[in-house]
Amino acid sequence: MLLNILQFVQHHIKLAVQAGDTVIDATAGNGHDTVFLAQCVTNSGKVLAFDIQSSALLNTRNKLNELGLSEQVSLIQAGHEHIQNFCHTGVSAIMFNLGYLPGADKNCTTQVTTTLAALEAGLNILLKDGLISVVLYPGHEQGLIEAQTIEKWTAQLPQQQYEVLQYRFTNRIHHAPYALLLHKRI
Ligand SMILES: C[S@@+](CC[C@H](N)C(=O)[O-])C[C@H]1O[C@@H](n2cnc3c(N)ncnc32)[C@H](O)[C@@H]1O
Repeated sequence: MLLNILQFVQHHIKLAVQAGDTVIDATAGNGHDTVFLAQCVTNSGKVLAFDIQSSALLNTRNKLNELGLSEQVSLIQAGHEHIQNFCHTGVSAIMFNLGYLPGADKNCTTQVTTTLAALEAGLNILLKDGLISVVLYPGHEQGLIEAQTIEKWTAQLPQQQYEVLQYRFTNRIHHAPYALLLHKRI
């Protein structure tokens, strides 16, 4: 009945993105979000997909090739905190799916300092009415610190400029993932 976290995020990203747009996957991982974004922008648009792990980018590349979506995607092996070295403006959506790559080294996880730097850079390059989605994983130690810090940071963004929405199942017994959406109003 209710949309799960990923469905909720994708629903809103779809509303913010049109064919031909430029968008960013800040954490390519196994490529699910990159594929989704590549389908949204079509081959007239552009997806920049970042990850620090070559294995993640390889998995993403393979998925894109299988689905014939490689044309519109640039895979970038760099930390998302360097987003502005690759893109200066004109982005309609950025997806962050934090934490570690399932099945890989759990120590290679997103870190609060670099995630915050990337979010700040992301807000700079976002178009008016652009959207940033962040999926947070408080179920592991680093993820909990990251989720709490990011939640606090987003809560102090000026409301004239940004709307911040949290989507969370509050009665789950374990620390379930949840989402934040940041909408740039002006
Ligand atoms: C939960 S996974 C992403 C899942 C992915 N969106 C998908 O659809 O499969 C998180 C990814 O973030 C990557 N990562 C960690 N620190 C990063 C950074 N500073 N910049 C970019 N990616 C980073 C990890 O290597 C990992 O692949």
